[in-house]
Amino acid sequence: MQRVDFDDISLAYEDRGQGVPLLCIHGYPLNRRIWQDQWENLGDVARLIVPDLRGHGDSTDSGAAVAPHSMELFADDCLRLLDHLGVARALVCGLSMGGYVAFALLRKAPQRVAGLILAATRARPDSPEAQENRLKAVDLLRREGVPAIVESMLPRLLSPSTFSTKPELVQRVKQIMLSSSPASLEADLLGMRARQDSTPLLPGFTAPALIVMGKDDVFIPLAEAEEMLRLLPSARLELIPDAAHLPNMEQPELYNQLVRDFIRSL
Ligand code: MLT
Repeated sequence: MQRVDFDDISLAYEDRGQGVPLLCIHGYPLNRRIWQDQWENLGDVARLIVPDLRGHGDSTDSGAAVAPHSMELFADDCLRLLDHLGVARALVCGLSMGGYVAFALLRKAPQRVAGLILAATRARPDSPEAQENRLKAVDLLRREGVPAIVESMLPRLLSPSTFSTKPELVQRVKQIMLSSSPASLEADLLGMRARQDSTPLLPGFTAPALIVMGKDDVFIPLAEAEEMLRLLPSARLELIPDAAHLPNMEQPELYNQLVRDFIRSL
């Protein structure tokens, strides 16, 4: 792990491998460790730059009383990290909330995005019902803490096949989730709740995009991935069997092969 100190926060990150810069942005309520199978196995084709978003993993938060983690704030942190590393342009890969951050980064600095890998994510904003659920999750978090959030999400996060065949992976994911700080999860929930609609960005993004979905994902309807496929001028959609919302962890060999092929096709 490496670390860079900015004026307001300290960001922890991995910088591994050689090749095309590949910024990997984790989802909620997770941290950079979800990308371990990627930074250990893709270093021959890519330079993997893998931050803990502010308030997650080994990164600090600004210390201010809970202020939403807007997707733009996270994107600015990622851009500061790329500046620090002297990386002008990168492939940007985001999983779920990480995808929302990837879209915010694209909105802010399109010239820095060489391509997109959109894993288990969506371009649409929260529906009114989803916004309401964010507030319910904040309430649950305040009353019962991070373990209650983990209990409510974990059974749906991974595929039935992962639960029956990979108990050690289930434990790994659970530990990553449990290590989250309540203040930071609350800030994430409020940030995701307020995020913009990114669908208008899609027709104008002409660089290559790879959309990856686990076939058993219950968080993101396949129709939303198919809509992104239709709207992006140069995209392909790959479905990974026996995987749900964390396809890169549940089926790392398949996922890594898709990323490898994508990078080779650039
Ligand atoms: C995530 O996996 O990052 C979250 O489930 C995304 C969301 O809640 O919208």
